[in-house]
Amino acid sequence: MEAARRIEELTRQLNDHAHRYYVLDDPVISDSEYDRLFQELLKLEEAYPALSAEDSPTRRVGGAPLDKFEQARHRLPMLSLENGFSDQDLRDFSERLQRFLNEPVVSGFSAEPKMDGLAVELVYRHGRLVTGSTRGDGSIGENISAQLKTIGTIPLRLVQESSELLEVRGEVYMDKQGFTELNEHQLSKALQPFANPRNAAAGSLRQLDPTVTAQRPLKFFAYGVGEPQSTTCTSQTELLGYLNRIGFPTCPHNRFCPGIEEVIGHYDQLSSIRHDLPYEIDGMVVKVDELLLQSRLGVKARAPRWAIARKFPATQATTTLCGVDFQVGRTGAITPVALLDPVNLDGATVSRATLHNQDEINRKDLRIGDSVLVQRAGDVIPEVVKPMVAKRTGKETPITLPTRCPACDSELIKPEDEAVTRCPNMQCPAQQLRGLIHYCSKAGLDIEGLGKRYVEQLYGEGLIREIADLYTMEREVLKNLEGWGEKSADNVLTAIKQARTPPLADFIAALGIRFIGENSSSLLESHFGSLEKIAAAAEAELLEIDGIGDQAARSLVDYFGNGRIVAMLDRLNQAGVSPAAARQAADGLALSGATLVFTGSLTRLSRDEAKKLVKEHGGTIASSVTNKVTHVVAGQKAGSKLTKAREAGKVILSEDEFLELIGS
Ligand code: IVH
Repeated sequence: MEAARRIEELTRQLNDHAHRYYVLDDPVISDSEYDRLFQELLKLEEAYPALSAEDSPTRRVGGAPLDKFEQARHRLPMLSLENGFSDQDLRDFSERLQRFLNEPVVSGFSAEPKMDGLAVELVYRHGRLVTGSTRGDGSIGENISAQLKTIGTIPLRLVQESSELLEVRGEVYMDKQGFTELNEHQLSKALQPFANPRNAAAGSLRQLDPTVTAQRPLKFFAYGVGEPQSTTCTSQTELLGYLNRIGFPTCPHNRFCPGIEEVIGHYDQLSSIRHDLPYEIDGMVVKVDELLLQSRLGVKARAPRWAIARKFPATQATTTLCGVDFQVGRTGAITPVALLDPVNLDGATVSRATLHNQDEINRKDLRIGDSVLVQRAGDVIPEVVKPMVAKRTGKETPITLPTRCPACDSELIKPEDEAVTRCPNMQCPAQQLRGLIHYCSKAGLDIEGLGKRYVEQLYGEGLIREIADLYTMEREVLKNLEGWGEKSADNVLTAIKQARTPPLADFIAALGIRFIGENSSSLLESHFGSLEKIAAAAEAELLEIDGIGDQAARSLVDYFGNGRIVAMLDRLNQAGVSPAAARQAADGLALSGATLVFTGSLTRLSRDEAKKLVKEHGGTIASSVTNKVTHVVAGQKAGSKLTKAREAGKVILSEDEFLELIGS
């Protein structure tokens, strides 16, 4: 059909012109010619809506507003970066790499400006943009496809890209000029101006109505893909070039640097031109260039070992420390929080900053009434650096932690060897409330509809005191609460019902046991496989797990040995809450079910890389030869552990045999 062919033709042409204009900066037609073609396409699409292509440039104008953002799960997690604040931190980074790899990195680094915007993922199937999402918590973000499609520099169709799936990651940002103009516009309409370009970019993307986003001057730079190994590129530098060729703008200040000293040189150069750049950057990202090395280095917790962000120094300001608030945390820790005269730091108003504990206050010699230096580095939380001693008048008063809990009046305790002062009362309302907030929050089970404010309300109404109470709340009661209704009551009850079979590791982390975060929870899940086994584990058994230390082991034993907790877990069980181990070592992996001990020195691998390989192949690491241990890998000069392993009849492997076993 004629119209179909013309629509296809126009779509292709217009996308091509957009690429030339935005990415190559080399347009071959005038703006008015572009508009003419655009209008022609628009008319045809109006006449034949069914023929409008998914990647039609007319979709850039926005489309229908959404009710809410849907969730979008990233196939591969979007990681964060470790921060460095000095040249020495970069040199240390390079040394860590060498230690892990057991050889120096000779193939260089990619040093890239750290764009100060928002990380997004764009999913292309067969070269067409299908979904775009925010980073969110790294695993799940929000589907903002309609909003992202309005950004002119994001290609809707890729130039000669046929691979089935490509997940492009990069930064959406607003340049300085666009930001200034947007704020002028906001002011002229008596609307609130944005504090900084990053907030403006975030606020513009999180508009339910994409036509609003379409009017905002947003831009995009690509800096990576979900799985670089899936491309034919062998280095980050090559990958950036490839992304550029298939249609993505990349930052022109990205540099290949042969060694860490050149990286430091590039950082100095970026610092000196930083304020002349048309967009804001908050540092530099350094990546090991060779992709093979990146995959050997892998990921530690939530950040890759192969990259580091070198941040620009913090912005500082002085203000007055007017008072101190004492907060009671989830585990009873009392945290002094400085109340500051509000002060602007990089566009954000700062009025509170944690003082951590009494030792920190003493070390910095802070007093109420002091004029203080505060700072904030990028996305890092603000901190009080020091008092301006010269400005003291003598009227300043010392800060001392209270002796009784501000929430429950129990006598506070401070163990000799700890910096933290703590409320020992497990019934303390402040602790209970914080624990409940944590359980429902993203760091816990992420129960939709039970954000901080609502948990506070339910607590205030006396409906919940401990976690188990969440599961016995009644619809009749909820729907009559202020600000609720049938719909919100039903939604929350459904979300709570869904939270009856959480992944075991999430559940453990949600309990908020002292010293047990996300990482330890995963270790516990894969080692024990059930809540019952974790609860019954003795301290010695917990200590066998690599990554569980003294404090964590003791804390777990205390927690599960506490009568109240036992009763509470029993109530949870009766309410049908049964966490399931999802991340059990997958069968079929070379080391499934195996527990390995390494002894002696390795020559081809570092200990850390060996540990990483064991985990990747489904095995567990132990630090001593216990009953559970199945294999002992003996390096050079192996000592008593090897002797013990021989006596106990364990399988003994050399380093080469170990590598062979995992097929590496
Ligand atoms: S790479 C595993 N490259 O920095 C590496 N990130 O914590 C993950 N960012 O918000 C990111 N410019 O969006 C990378 N050239 C760049 C970047 C960059 C800015 C942001 C990123 C995220 C944060 C990483």
